[in-house]
Amino acid sequence: MSVFRNDLFLGRAALITGGGTGIGRGIAGALARYGANVAIVSRKLENLVGAAESIAAATGRRCLPMVADVRQPEAVDSAVNRAIQELGRLDFVVNNAAGNFVCPSAELSPNGFGTVLDIDAKGTWNMSRAAYRAWLKDHGGQILNISATLHYGGTPGQVHVAAAKAAVDALTRTLAVEWGPQGIRVNAIAHGPIGQTEGARRLFPGAAADQLRAASPIRRLGTIDDIVNLAVFVLSDAGSNLNGAILVSDGGLCLTGRLGLGVEVGPTI
Ligand code: HXC
Repeated sequence: MSVFRNDLFLGRAALITGGGTGIGRGIAGALARYGANVAIVSRKLENLVGAAESIAAATGRRCLPMVADVRQPEAVDSAVNRAIQELGRLDFVVNNAAGNFVCPSAELSPNGFGTVLDIDAKGTWNMSRAAYRAWLKDHGGQILNISATLHYGGTPGQVHVAAAKAAVDALTRTLAVEWGPQGIRVNAIAHGPIGQTEGARRLFPGAAADQLRAASPIRRLGTIDDIVNLAVFVLSDAGSNLNGAILVSDGGLCLTGRLGLGVEVGPTI
């Protein structure tokens, strides 16, 4: 059962990066379920085709698979232009694509650091810029960035990701102020550990997940649905006074100061 109206996003169009898997796929499916046509963007066609077919079949909406690397501005421009051409408009952009791996800072190469900055921070910028220029500046709309909480403290093995997500937060706040007068809302969801995702497999395999669950004030990890439902709320008219907000969904874990994720490169929780 859903708490949202089925026609919440009827007639709207959305583009979701990293929309073939995990949280991005969940958000794409929900926006389609509530009436929007969607484009899902990823580097890997194999991550997109099955997701696009099943979203379209389950919802009766259009779901376009589009191959683009968010690090490449020309590819991002093309994806945005194609989405607008095929879907007729572009109301929501969800910057969800991200890169992550655990690596002790002393062992991280310059390219390793830069790669994650490029995917998360520059990718978010490339997509926001492209959508603004091609559609949002004239029609308004929303940008929703998927951030994290691991940079609220010091998370060992995550210096590259912490820097990247801090940049995403800064982009969120700056663009919210700069583009707000044009009817564009820019917000972020900062999530803590989510089970079921590629990030979880990389960051807290096995017993580390149990440690995090025990450390959480609500004694559970987040779920993809937690983030999907919050995204639907933010993008709906119920969120119309939200701009530049970074909404934390982590069960209160970051308030405990126990953000170590249980990774093996330093102090654990
Ligand atoms: C150390 C590593 C590494 C590792 C890659 N590198 N993996 N260094 N430990 N495990 C280094 C490489 O050696 C290289 O540097 C540089 O990073 C680029 O690596 P490539 O493999 O060439 O990059 P690429 O093929 O572009 O892949 C990007 C990637 C990859 C980020 C490295 O893991 C990826 O595609 N990830 C996408 C999916 C993903 O990460 N999803 C999880 C998001 S979770 P050198 O110097 O050797 O050239 C998330 C949640 C956060 O964001 C919040 C959680 C609570």
